[in-house]
Amino acid sequence: MLILGIETSCDESGVALLEVKGDKFRVLSNLVASQVNIFKKYGGVVPEIAARKHLENLLPLLEQSLSEARIGVEDIDAIGVVYGPGLITSLIVGIETAKTLSLIWQKSLIPVDHMKAHILANLIEGESGILVKIKYPAICLVVSGGHTMLVYMKDENNFKTIGQTRDDAVGEAFDKVAKILGLSYPGGPIISEKAVNADKEFFKLPRPMINSGDFDFSFSGLKTAVKNEWDQEQFKDKENIRKMCSAFQQACIDVLIKKTIAAAKEYKVKSILLGGGVAANKELRKRLAEKINLEFKDVKFFQPELNMTTDNALMVAMAAYFEYKGSPDKFIDTWKTIKVEPNLEI
Ligand code: KG4
Ligand code: ZN
Repeated sequence: MLILGIETSCDESGVALLEVKGDKFRVLSNLVASQVNIFKKYGGVVPEIAARKHLENLLPLLEQSLSEARIGVEDIDAIGVVYGPGLITSLIVGIETAKTLSLIWQKSLIPVDHMKAHILANLIEGESGILVKIKYPAICLVVSGGHTMLVYMKDENNFKTIGQTRDDAVGEAFDKVAKILGLSYPGGPIISEKAVNADKEFFKLPRPMINSGDFDFSFSGLKTAVKNEWDQEQFKDKENIRKMCSAFQQACIDVLIKKTIAAAKEYKVKSILLGGGVAANKELRKRLAEKINLEFKDVKFFQPELNMTTDNALMVAMAAYFEYKGSPDKFIDTWKTIKVEPNLEI
């Protein structure tokens, strides 16, 4: 089975080709055209521009993908495309492209939830394409620019959100704090880089909702606390920027880890997964792994490879595969009904 994945939910245009034979996945191509450099000067994504760039990027990416994979259109069995959540202008470009291809090529069209795709990015091991076997039930901490959630999974087709942010997503907080500190966009990679070996205790920041007793999060107050501290700081030098990055990163990680461990205990899970753009944060990956080792004997920790954490189309093709394999006939006429859902919830 050969699946074409298309991702355009935010500011990365992605096209991937995934071949599945039994338990063996083979990544024939996985291309991303990132718009990050365009949005650095705006300090964030401008939806109109992102949509135009997707339009420019998608068909060349598709051509390159097919030629890299050395396959013809006739070899493709189905197309998976993200229909939400995300920026409406960006999503529309992906959907309209996929709809058109589905109609003219006569291929099934599988609508993919972007957040499920982030979670399922855990199930493929690198370009080698080994299917990762996960024991269920599992819990996934999903942390991205638009979402912060704890998702309970009965298996790879059954998801239930058990907690989420009440205001800003953690990635969004990284991006906003970077702006406050005069750093560039996106904030996550630069803050985590500056935080390396910097004193995390120098600035005292709150851990919002850490003892709330539920699995919800809040990061807007933490961002405001950074702003207040920074406004009062006399020496806005490089060293203090590094200390603030470290203090902020630590505050986020403390809350994320505490809630994830509590959820894993309450739901008696066998596996803990990590997903989303913020899953690229090395300190989070390391500290969560250590804490899981410390707290549990039989719970296994999975995290996607680094190139599978931020937006890409391979995770979309993966998610499409899991939807498609159960009921392939369901998706023959989807091109007639598929709709963009910018606020889609798991
Ligand atoms: O999943 P993603 O690529 O797009 C969305 O679906 O939102 O996530 C992007 C987010 C951005 O907010 C970015 O700052 C954050 O992921 N991010 C990081 C790191 N790398 C990317 N946050 C913390 N540490 C990182 N190393
Ligand atoms: Zn994403």
